Amino acid sequence: MRDLKALIAQMTLEEKASLLSGGDFWHTKAIDRLGIPATMVSDGPHGLRKQDQKADHLGVNDSIKAVCFPAASATAASFDPELVRTMGEAIGDSCQHEELSVVLGPAVNIKRSPLCGRNFEYFSEDPYLAGRMATAMIQGIQSRNVGTSIKHFAANNQEHRRMSSSSDVDERTLREIYFPAFEMAVREAQPWTVMCSYNRLNGVFASENRWLLTDVLRNEWGFEGYVMSDWGAVSNRPKGVEAGLDLEMPASGGINDRKVVEAVKNGTLDEACVDLCCERILRIVFRYIDNARPDTPWDLEAQHLLAADIAAECMVLLKNQDDILPLRRDEPVAFIGEFAAAPRFQGGGSSHINTFKTTSALEAANGLPVIYAQGYSAAEDTATDEQIAQAVEAALKARVAVVFAGLPDAYESEGYDRTHMRLPECQNRLIHAVAAANPNTVVVLHNGSPVEMPWIDEVRGVLEAYLGGQAVGLAEIRVLYGDVNPSGRLPESFPKKLEDNPSFLFFGGEPRATEYREGIFVGYRYYDKKKMDVLFPFGFGLSYTTFEYSGLRLSTDAMQDTDTLTATVTVTNTGKRAGKTVVQLYVADVESTVLRPVRELKGFEKIALEAGESRDVTFTLDKRAFAYWNTDLHDWHVETGDFRIEIGASCQDIRLTGTVHVTSTQTVPHHYDMDSIFMDIMADPKARAVLMPFMEKMMAAFMPKKEEATSEVADAAVSAEMSLAMMNYMPLRGVFSFGGGAGEDGIRQLLQALNQ
Ligand code: BGC
Repeated sequence: MRDLKALIAQMTLEEKASLLSGGDFWHTKAIDRLGIPATMVSDGPHGLRKQDQKADHLGVNDSIKAVCFPAASATAASFDPELVRTMGEAIGDSCQHEELSVVLGPAVNIKRSPLCGRNFEYFSEDPYLAGRMATAMIQGIQSRNVGTSIKHFAANNQEHRRMSSSSDVDERTLREIYFPAFEMAVREAQPWTVMCSYNRLNGVFASENRWLLTDVLRNEWGFEGYVMSDWGAVSNRPKGVEAGLDLEMPASGGINDRKVVEAVKNGTLDEACVDLCCERILRIVFRYIDNARPDTPWDLEAQHLLAADIAAECMVLLKNQDDILPLRRDEPVAFIGEFAAAPRFQGGGSSHINTFKTTSALEAANGLPVIYAQGYSAAEDTATDEQIAQAVEAALKARVAVVFAGLPDAYESEGYDRTHMRLPECQNRLIHAVAAANPNTVVVLHNGSPVEMPWIDEVRGVLEAYLGGQAVGLAEIRVLYGDVNPSGRLPESFPKKLEDNPSFLFFGGEPRATEYREGIFVGYRYYDKKKMDVLFPFGFGLSYTTFEYSGLRLSTDAMQDTDTLTATVTVTNTGKRAGKTVVQLYVADVESTVLRPVRELKGFEKIALEAGESRDVTFTLDKRAFAYWNTDLHDWHVETGDFRIEIGASCQDIRLTGTVHVTSTQTVPHHYDMDSIFMDIMADPKARAVLMPFMEKMMAAFMPKKEEATSEVADAAVSAEMSLAMMNYMPLRGVFSFGGGAGEDGIRQLLQALNQ
């Protein structure tokens, strides 16, 4: 064990301050005098963007030749954490080979709106899915003794004004939607580093937000590594040091280092904070140095094939009318659209990888009877009449026309947001024309986020390939021709139109801030609650075979919130070929005093089954699966009551349900006063027991007696019920106004009893 404290004790204040910012664009600082080496970090995250010479954080200048794996939007669709772990291991090996201490990812920001320019880099609209994927990726990469930097912490869900805008998010929404992916990854995978985001959170820059970087991240979740800034995210460096931002990246030419020294000297910053940042940085620097294995081989060709295997698992079959897919190898097929020959497989910006090779579908189809027509130019974003005519001609010659469509590079990138949810107009025109010529039209989509599909009823098939990495063409051919049975599921809802998205009115926000007014109702949490039709729901995806779910067994029908519940279901492949399905478990709170989504994903498992094979899948649920964030307790809380356990093939295709009664072991402290209303008191079992005798006495005084029965008594009885219902909203003080006859002293005594 290195004695880091002793090492820091030998450093001058200036040396310590200097260690808290980058030595250059990609390195931590070296202090030769003390044998502290520089270590390199690099983007990421779905491959390496290691820059040798000219450095930039927007993917402008070249980086070394590397392997581009599918982007997070795609890997999330695999719903397969094991697969993502394998990808992480491969990336970890490349890091060791390239002498990189930390890869800058994964990026786990929630896909709040289809418009965010970086959605392709993010996993999902669902925090549980994003958390599982990020955890697996971190574990995979770090198994090779190199670090990760989970990013961008936190609530960085748009590119618009990303370096200045405040994301104004309420406490419960942060805890339930925007934090859990980070939280799960920190608790379960302990990333070596965390990257703070550019934006402010509720007015305070993430880079100087002590609540975020220290109270929540470290004190609550137990993060042990160092926090680095996103590139250029630092505003007030001394404040950042105090808040727990250890490393400023890239650097400020010494300006901020001097400010740190000054702040310590003038007493506004405690030197112990500087020491702590140094210690956290050094721990990770040496963790890498002590485990560096530059002799690790990096087999690019093998990783290319791995990238193809992964991409094939990510593709989501959205429509397959009349089993138009899979294609037969002996039939004439038209491949239409430039993306068949030059696929779009990654997005723009800091994650942009300089691939050592790419394989298009056209190349991968070598030897098959395929006719190609370009159809459109992605760079120019046009389709000439001639291109469309050639496409139609090709479509007419084939049994099936496959249009390779999607968003061109300029539509989707780091640095700016999309302005609409449409495909290029020229591509929509092309698809309409091809589908009119040949009803057997299939569309393969290349995009990092949902698009509208105005031609959906005109085509027989749709395959969502997302941004599938450099070997996407190999994967497409395997799926289109049935060598691989598609098993991806949508990690996000595809709304029919942009205006349906819950953040539509507020996305992008105003100059100072973006208010997350839709709160916890993000993605399917909103569409389900509104019973709104979507184009394709969260969790949806088809297969070339069929699956049946049966026999849901819960380990108990009543439990305490400190117990765990297991749910087991039998899954059968009822079709004629082997395939994989994703069993999804949602939890629904049957009755609740707080607003809750209809259902939330709390478990999923991808399983492979031969034709006719059955297998059991078991899920374990703990308190967190039933809880919501209670803003009085500032903690997770389960409200006593019934919960539905739902097993589904998507959030809108629930096949089996069971019920469990969960009893809370937590007391929510209540304080009652004259303004407390009867309904709230009655909802609290202990308070109810105190209130009831009082109520009975009061009602007895108020209601007509049996022996006074007259013809009006029947009416009076109805009135009693009605008045009871109306009393729901009456405050205790109302008893004076409406003549409950209890008197002020009586009410005060009651209050005292209630508050005990
Ligand atoms: C991005 C980060 C990236 C960093 C370094 C920033 O612009 O937001 O995701 O890791 O640059 O390139």
